[in-house]
Amino acid sequence: MAENDLMGKLVSLCKRRGFVFQSSEVYGGLGSVWDYGPLGVELKRNVKDRWWNDMVRERPDIEGLDAGILMHPKVWEASGHVEGFTDPLVECRNCHRRFRADEVSDQCPVCGVKDQFTPPRNFNLMFQTFMGAVEEEAAQIYLRPETAQGIYVNFQNVVTSARQRVPFGIAQIGKAFRNEITPGNFIFRTREFEQMEMQYFVMPGTDEEWFEYWKNERMEWVRALGIREEKLRFHRHTRDELAHYAYDAYDIQYEFPFGWQEFEGIHNRTDFDLKRHQEHSGKKLEYVDAAAGERYIPYIIETSGGVDRLMLVLLADAYREEEVEGEKRVVLGLAPWLAPIKAAIFPLVKKDGMPEIARKIADDLRRRYPVFYDESGSIGRRYRRQDEAGTPFAITVDGQTLEDQTVTVRDRDSLEQQRVSIDRLRDYLAGSIDR
Ligand code: GAP
Repeated sequence: MAENDLMGKLVSLCKRRGFVFQSSEVYGGLGSVWDYGPLGVELKRNVKDRWWNDMVRERPDIEGLDAGILMHPKVWEASGHVEGFTDPLVECRNCHRRFRADEVSDQCPVCGVKDQFTPPRNFNLMFQTFMGAVEEEAAQIYLRPETAQGIYVNFQNVVTSARQRVPFGIAQIGKAFRNEITPGNFIFRTREFEQMEMQYFVMPGTDEEWFEYWKNERMEWVRALGIREEKLRFHRHTRDELAHYAYDAYDIQYEFPFGWQEFEGIHNRTDFDLKRHQEHSGKKLEYVDAAAGERYIPYIIETSGGVDRLMLVLLADAYREEEVEGEKRVVLGLAPWLAPIKAAIFPLVKKDGMPEIARKIADDLRRRYPVFYDESGSIGRRYRRQDEAGTPFAITVDGQTLEDQTVTVRDRDSLEQQRVSIDRLRDYLAGSIDR
């Protein structure tokens, strides 16, 4: 399959099977905002749960947080976003389309006219809105463009309430908003998206060591998701690429059908953010290190991933087409922990009490896992519908079930079928699904 076909096929599969829909589609859609459907929302939840478990629940040195999307406007002055969170924008004088200056040559990619771009001007990517009933400058606030700042302004609250000692981290998952000039590539670059961010507070002078630690830790985490090794790489930011807050930064990139692109960044933000918040708020954001007998503003190592981008990585990596016994099948080879539906339950035929047994199995398994009951169409069609939804197991009640209370369990990838007794089904699935 040509790589450039893959995006079209993914978008179409995502819509057909209820992973991702365009926002406000009945009104013609809203640019670069996407809605997650019944299967997409389960997939997204599985991605976030895995991150939260590994980054927060299983680590005594990391606390969780859920800060508001709306924050005091001074946060964004202190963070440097009001002044520096801009992209250079140019407009084609012929077709009036706007582009990021660093993403176009001298020729307009829409109308093809040459040398007609306006000089670049800085365009701030933050969405603005108003708080309260008066639309005046004093009431102007922003939708957060990163979740990180909610963590920084709560640094002292967490130190005091959770009694953590540096080095330690604070993590959160939440929505962020950017008025991107050129969004696109489906859920890759959107104007509303979700981030999974962790800020690790360390003693100055130990930051490079911790930067190295988190760089490796995050790549290991990504590899453990089962993404193809040859599709992953690091990219170190050049001086020109570094964000205004970063001293050093590595992207974890995936080879998408449209090229190598970042889906997570590891940044050494030094003491930039806490220092700026201390200056702008007038509140001390120092840490008193009793063990070292010092007080200092901690340095911050940040790991920042996009939920939607990681989903696109996982979907693109899982999609395959193959021929089985002369018939084409589309498979989403999602790992069992990630799959939105863990098992489909079918009666072979709609008679002889098979639907009743199959329904009872589905009801029992549903208490533990998302499962799907289906009795319509040939068994082959039912298998194929589940293959493209990424369901790892298909359980069929057949004639033999009536005699010995066993069912067949078909593995989506190997296509092997095993007979398993009904009372062992839960344990059988748990062995593959639970980590
Ligand atoms: N707090 C640091 C920060 O926000 P970033 O590199 O701007 O760093 C981190 O963003 C991650 O957030 C990216 O690697 C990407 O996964 C995700 N992200 C950023 N902008 C996005 C957008 N417009 N659409 C979808 N995901 C985005």
